[in-house]
Amino acid sequence: MDGPAGSGKSTVARCIAEKLGLLYLDSGAMYRAVTLLAIQEELAADSPKLIDSVKACHIEFMDNGRTILLDAEDVSKQIRTPAVNRLVADVAKIPEIRHEIVKHQQRIGAEGSIIAEGRDLTTIVFPNADFKFYLDASVTERAKRRLADLHAQNIDATLAAVEAEIRERDEKDTTREHSPLRTAPDAVVVDTTDKTIEEVVDLIIAHVCANE
Ligand code: C5P
Repeated sequence: MDGPAGSGKSTVARCIAEKLGLLYLDSGAMYRAVTLLAIQEELAADSPKLIDSVKACHIEFMDNGRTILLDAEDVSKQIRTPAVNRLVADVAKIPEIRHEIVKHQQRIGAEGSIIAEGRDLTTIVFPNADFKFYLDASVTERAKRRLADLHAQNIDATLAAVEAEIRERDEKDTTREHSPLRTAPDAVVVDTTDKTIEEVVDLIIAHVCANE
C-alpha cells in the first residue's frame, strides 16, 4: 500500500493486519528512525557518515509495528516529532540509505504474509505483491488528520503549518530521483477524503476476498 502523508495508510494497514492476521510493516517508521539517528548524531542528511551509521544500526519492530526499536531503544514517540517530519524526506532521498532500508524490508517480507505501507512498496520493494493499493486524500483533509495526531501527543501546531509541511514533503517525495512516490499501474486507487477508516478497511478487505 502506498500513498502520501496523512492518506490513512498506517491506520488502515494496522487494522487490516489485525483482521487478516498479517504482519504489519510501517516502512515510513524506518526512514523516520534513521532520520532520528541523523539528528542524534548531528549529521546532515547527505553526510557519508550517516550512510555508515545506517548500515551499522539495528532497526526492529515489536507488537506488530506499534513499537520500533533503534539499537534496542524504543523510539516510537521520538520518530513522530516535528523535527523528524521536517528532515525525513531529505534523508529518504539518499539512494544508499534507501538501498539499506529496502533490503531490510524485503527480508521482513520474506518471513511470511505481510501488509506493508509507504511510498515505494508497490513499485520497488514488492513489485510482485498479490494486492496493491494507492491511498490518497485532499491535502487539507490529510493536514487535519496529522494535526489531530499531533494534538493527541500534546504537540502544538496550526493547520496552516501542518498543511505547508505536508505539501513540502509531498513535493520532495514525488519529485526525488530515486524511488519517487508513484501510483503503480496495477494498484487500486482509493480516495479516503470522505471515507471513515472502517469504510476504507472494508473496501480493501472486500477487494482482497473477491480476488484471492
Ligand atoms: O509514512 P510516513 O509519513 O511516516 O513517512 C515518512 C517519510 O519517509 C515520507 O515522507 C518519505 O519521505 C519517507 N518514506 C519513503 N519511502 C517509504 C516510506 C516513507 O521515502 N516507503
